[in-house]
Amino acid sequence: MNTSERKTKSLAKITLLLLAVAITLVIMDRRSKASWSDEENRGKTTESERQTDANADRMLAEGKQTFRFDTFGDEAFWSDALQLHRAIEGANFGGVGPGVSPKTALAVGLKVDTDALPGSLVAQLKHGRVNLDDPATTLALLKLNAVVGVKGTFNGDGSLKSVGITCALCHSTVDDSFAPGIGQRLDGWANRDLNVGAIAALSPNLQPVAQLLGVDEATVRTVLQSWGPGRFDAELFLDGKAFRPDGKSASTLLPPAFGLAGVNLHTWTGWGSVTHWNAFVANLEMHGQGTFYDPRLNDPVKFPIAARAGFGNVRSNPDLITAKLPALQFYQLAIPAPAAPAGSFDPAAAARGAILFKDQAKCATCHVPPIYTEPGWNMHTPAEIGIDDFQAKRSPDERYRTAPLKGLWTHQKGGFYHDGRFSTLREVVDHYNSFLVTNLTDQQKSDLVEYLKSL
Ligand code: HEC
Ligand code: HEC
Repeated sequence: MNTSERKTKSLAKITLLLLAVAITLVIMDRRSKASWSDEENRGKTTESERQTDANADRMLAEGKQTFRFDTFGDEAFWSDALQLHRAIEGANFGGVGPGVSPKTALAVGLKVDTDALPGSLVAQLKHGRVNLDDPATTLALLKLNAVVGVKGTFNGDGSLKSVGITCALCHSTVDDSFAPGIGQRLDGWANRDLNVGAIAALSPNLQPVAQLLGVDEATVRTVLQSWGPGRFDAELFLDGKAFRPDGKSASTLLPPAFGLAGVNLHTWTGWGSVTHWNAFVANLEMHGQGTFYDPRLNDPVKFPIAARAGFGNVRSNPDLITAKLPALQFYQLAIPAPAAPAGSFDPAAAARGAILFKDQAKCATCHVPPIYTEPGWNMHTPAEIGIDDFQAKRSPDERYRTAPLKGLWTHQKGGFYHDGRFSTLREVVDHYNSFLVTNLTDQQKSDLVEYLKSL
């Protein structure tokens, strides 16, 4: 190696060394900057983050209020048209008939919210000093806004001016902490005790419904009485079909309105998103005053009643619904499915069932944990789940939506599937076992049931 070669070599060495030092310095500088800026940011939020947080708080509070207490002006239907308030107050208060006592109200599944009661009244109730056979007590409870999902407006003389219903009527219950039917609110729970049909049938004037359906009042009463507790028929006002081909009621079970975040399509037959269905129900079922657009309802063959009545394009003035939809949706998506209480299932069996759910029993192909429905288009033909197509055909897509299973334990009353055709979870598992040929043993079936109870 000559001198010039040696010089070049050591120059190259120095250059490399300098480069390495430079790179190290840059990396160290980056790191320290990153940790400085992390430190600076800790505990601080940007203006836009603060706005989002405040918006979330406001939407939750507003949505809860709407879900629990808003009638959307549906008094125009339940009171002005059907006169339901007159049957509730009874002849003694200028209405009709015997009136509805708290005992009767509880018997048809209405619930009383103890948080709305003053302490003195709770004490009197405790000592049995409140007359639960007197319709006057029902009026007092309504005045306190203590009957879940029913809102009364009063005249100066204490008689009822009108009643309206809210979402909480069908999608809330109470925890029975005081007595059966009396306790603290449980928002989002399906009220499977509620006999919507029997309550609606109390209305002195069912002519508006009879007219809409093109039948007589006696027929409307027969249909309403055929539903039974925990059921309602959201499609009756669309297609006028009150009974299935086998003669059974066409009504479906009331589903819960919790655990719905991440679920794409809603209702048993996947009519649309939560907010689509909220607008649908508030306008077409509760008969509130708002705006609703769904041209699928203009089909005169599938939805003769809706097409004739123009339900596919409703415009009320004033609109008491649309402005409330954003927060209402937000609130429902925030309601978690309640965890199964300890002791309500066997944990060891449930753990074995969880494995079966995912592999041998094939359940998780459709009920994908942790949302327990398919991320995406969560719909199936009746043939894919081995049942008849009657209810599917009453919807635009003619399919059944994969039911999200979280909180199943809260709505075991009334059975499972849209129409409650399986009265127990074991029957559901038996159905899949033969239909999907899952070859489960008796032990495996009961493990799977314990898992379903634990969700
Ligand atoms: C008279 C009882 C009743 C009232 C009042 C009622 N619903 Fe429902 N709700 C039902 C029934 C029944 C279904 C199932 C309909 C179907 O599948 O055909 C349902 C379905 C739903 C669903 C779909 C749940 C799921 O599993 O995807 C949501 C969400 C919902 N309702 C929210 C509301 C909101 C919000 C209100 C108030 C604006 C409301 N409901 C008022 C009876 C009611
Ligand atoms: C092909 C898709 C698919 C598979 C596989 C499947 N399910 Fe379902 N599941 C559905 C659909 C769709 C519904 C709604 C049926 C209805 O509304 O009548 C449903 C409903 C249910 C219900 C009733 C929920 C309620 O609220 O009443 C239960 C429980 C259930 N499935 C459990 C299971 C179990 C356990 C398995 C595995 C043995 C399973 N499913 C496999 C699609 C599926």
